Amino acid sequence: MSGVNEIRSTFLNYFGDNGHTIEQSGPLVPRNDPTLMFTNAGMVQFKNVFTGLEHRDYSRAVTSQKCVRAGGKHNDLDNVGYTARHHTFFEMLGNFSFGDYFKEDAIELSWNLITKEFGLAKDKLLVTVYHEDDEAFDLWKKIAGLPDEKIIRIATNDNFWSMGETGPCGPCSEIFYDHGDHIWGGPPGSADEDGDRFIEIWNLVFMQYEQISKDKRIDLPKPSIDTGMGLERVAAVMQGTHDNYETDLFRALIHNSVDLTGVEEQGEAAASHRVIADHLRSTSFLIADGILPSSDGRGYVLRRIMRRAMRHARLLGSQDPVIYKMVPTLIREMGQAFPELVRAESLITETLKLEESRFGKTLSRGLQLLDDATDGMAGGDRLDGETAFKLYDTYGFPLDLTQDALRARSIEVDSDGFDAAMERQKAEARANWTGSGEAATDAVWFDVFDKVGATDFLGYETEVAEGVIVALIKDGAATDSLKAGDEGAIVLNQTPFYGESGGQLGDTGVMLADNVRFEVSDTNKKAGAMFVHQGKVVEGRLAVGDALELKVSNDRRSAIRANHSATHLLHEALRETLGDHVAQKGSMVSPERLRFDFSHQKPVALDEMSTVEAMVNEMVLQNSAVDTRVMAVDDAIEAGAMALFGEKYGDEVRVVSMGKAVRGEKAGKTYSVELCGGTHVRRTGDIGLMTIVSESAVASGVRRIEALTGSEARAYLQQQDGRVRDAAALLKVAPGDMLERLEALIADRRKLEKELSEVRRKMAMGDSGASGDAAEEVNGVKIMARVAEGVSPKDLKGMVDQGKEALGSGVVVMIAVSEDGKVGVVVGVTADLTARFSAVELVKKAAEVLGGRGGGGRPDMAQAGGKDADQADAAIAAIKDMIKAS
Ligand code: ALA
Repeated sequence: MSGVNEIRSTFLNYFGDNGHTIEQSGPLVPRNDPTLMFTNAGMVQFKNVFTGLEHRDYSRAVTSQKCVRAGGKHNDLDNVGYTARHHTFFEMLGNFSFGDYFKEDAIELSWNLITKEFGLAKDKLLVTVYHEDDEAFDLWKKIAGLPDEKIIRIATNDNFWSMGETGPCGPCSEIFYDHGDHIWGGPPGSADEDGDRFIEIWNLVFMQYEQISKDKRIDLPKPSIDTGMGLERVAAVMQGTHDNYETDLFRALIHNSVDLTGVEEQGEAAASHRVIADHLRSTSFLIADGILPSSDGRGYVLRRIMRRAMRHARLLGSQDPVIYKMVPTLIREMGQAFPELVRAESLITETLKLEESRFGKTLSRGLQLLDDATDGMAGGDRLDGETAFKLYDTYGFPLDLTQDALRARSIEVDSDGFDAAMERQKAEARANWTGSGEAATDAVWFDVFDKVGATDFLGYETEVAEGVIVALIKDGAATDSLKAGDEGAIVLNQTPFYGESGGQLGDTGVMLADNVRFEVSDTNKKAGAMFVHQGKVVEGRLAVGDALELKVSNDRRSAIRANHSATHLLHEALRETLGDHVAQKGSMVSPERLRFDFSHQKPVALDEMSTVEAMVNEMVLQNSAVDTRVMAVDDAIEAGAMALFGEKYGDEVRVVSMGKAVRGEKAGKTYSVELCGGTHVRRTGDIGLMTIVSESAVASGVRRIEALTGSEARAYLQQQDGRVRDAAALLKVAPGDMLERLEALIADRRKLEKELSEVRRKMAMGDSGASGDAAEEVNGVKIMARVAEGVSPKDLKGMVDQGKEALGSGVVVMIAVSEDGKVGVVVGVTADLTARFSAVELVKKAAEVLGGRGGGGRPDMAQAGGKDADQADAAIAAIKDMIKAS
């Protein structure tokens, strides 16, 4: 018997040996197909390769593709647990030829695999072909030697496969396995074909056409091959059962569920164990591919799956969270083939546990309400829509959970009534928005949001995706189309563009379609969860419903990532260096730089800044993985996450952790843990380098640091280095000797300045050192007055003292005009004359003439300043006049 893992690898290696490139499964959220909710076939990742839009460096590929069929067009959710072959998650094994081999090789390769490698008995196999496809009919006859009655012609769409309303398509041929006449059922095309006896195991699609629109089909550039084999089904066949849940992989999960709940696999409990095993798989894979439970879109499908499983766990008697405990078993079974599960293990476990514990609280009360509401009802009765809506709105019961809960009693739910109640609630909410006086500009966003709902954000995982336009806005109003030259805004069903929030700027980039180009200049978030892309139509015309290829400007986003992650490291390094009082007060993360405002009472000293910078770069060099997970706010804060005080968070938050602390109490633990919705580097090494460029005050008690990372940091440091070299060249020393040289130059300069001032002072005082002869007599008073150029005003007092001493009795006026044009004046009056003249009065007069104000001192010595150097002589004359007049 072959286990599921063995069958998968046999398939991949078989085609690998036959010239096929073994390609990874594409993600569950299709990057290139916005019309699909989840990837539901192996060819989804190759859609554009078939049509010739995309080229790969191989023409044959093989994959085991993760698929989810829950929500959207393909929805198997309702049947899971109650049938042998329905799953929300399954693997599709497929081989692909892109214009390489066609029908003959495809048939031969498949036949050899199942009969030789897989060893299935030829007489148990039969095939179908599209009724017109004689070529396929003949090939099966020739290659497999099947008799005519085992090659069944089918005229319906069952044998014409198409991806959707548009896209690659072609006739197909299916291989069936006959489980034997002990099981009820008829061959394909017969009235009893839905029985379990004849099971389709492989679909070979002869891709020939592309459906362009409803009425238009064109040939593909080259005929191609797309095949799909359900791994779970073929495993059942090879393991001798017709029930997928009896295969080894499901056995392991179901045993685990039995062990954990302590309930045997019997009667209704068997269905519950199956639901739990199936839903655990889809839940875990969806979370690993970046989806988190939410109230909209894909996240809501995930939530529905999770809650449905939880009700079944409750049916099995589990009051406490239990499903999350099965994650290790799933990872043991599937982690090797899908390493993303291993990487996301803690995220999956925590997300499940959180959802289980939160929903656990309302689940019991909701079930009680449901019991009361259906008390006395019988099979065929209907639960009213209002009650179903109340269960949804108040107790978090998705509609399908309520339907599932009533299924065993054959009670239906009035889903129209449910929809009507939902509509009514939306209308009320809308009325409240309009009534609450929101700005008119915001009203339009709420209106649009009400119609289109939240945008699925894909930007944590990818920077390229496709999206469908769900709304267009021009001049503040919704419109159906935008034409070349128009500026406006686009809302899509999904986007990789980050909408400005949490200090991180919105993304820019382009949106493309054939002959259409929209340049995105900014992205914002409106009404909380709707992403709005602002920009201009450069070419073509856009209309609601169009699909666009979305490309975020990649270099810009990488730079933003680096700056955002560096901000987190900076925050922690500041706390480590300055103390726990440091708390984030704001931030701005752009591609060019980062700005971080934080509480701290005084300037950050230079040595502190170097320490902080060194700590951040230590974490950068550590190059440890950056981890993102989602938790309940309280748990996150308990885990040490730094939350922004006063910031509004939802119930669940993204927690970004990075670095491993190397010092202090935290040594060995995670260095930085923050609540953050932003985009981050994968590893700290991607930051490259961080350098602080400025530190300043923004408000009292709030400091601001600006820093650069990556190539901006390198360019900055290079520029600084260039300056150092230029300076050293000017100083004619090696850069290493520059400081010493500068210190010597500065000391020299001081000495020279002092000497020069001394010389000027002496010159001003006259060669003789201001002898009495140099004085003039006015009104019997000896006056010495000088204008000293290039002398510092602070030297004037000494000169005045000297003058007074030389005169013995008299008045000394010294005016200094410094090199920068400042004027200082000091007046001295010898003690014997202070009764007649006050130095203060005299200096005030001088100051007035010199265009200065005030002046002060004592009667024997006073000083003042001025600005009109050319009035120096006039000031002296004014003083002389005062003395003359006295
Ligand atoms: N694309 C084909 C299918 O899904 C193989 O059945």
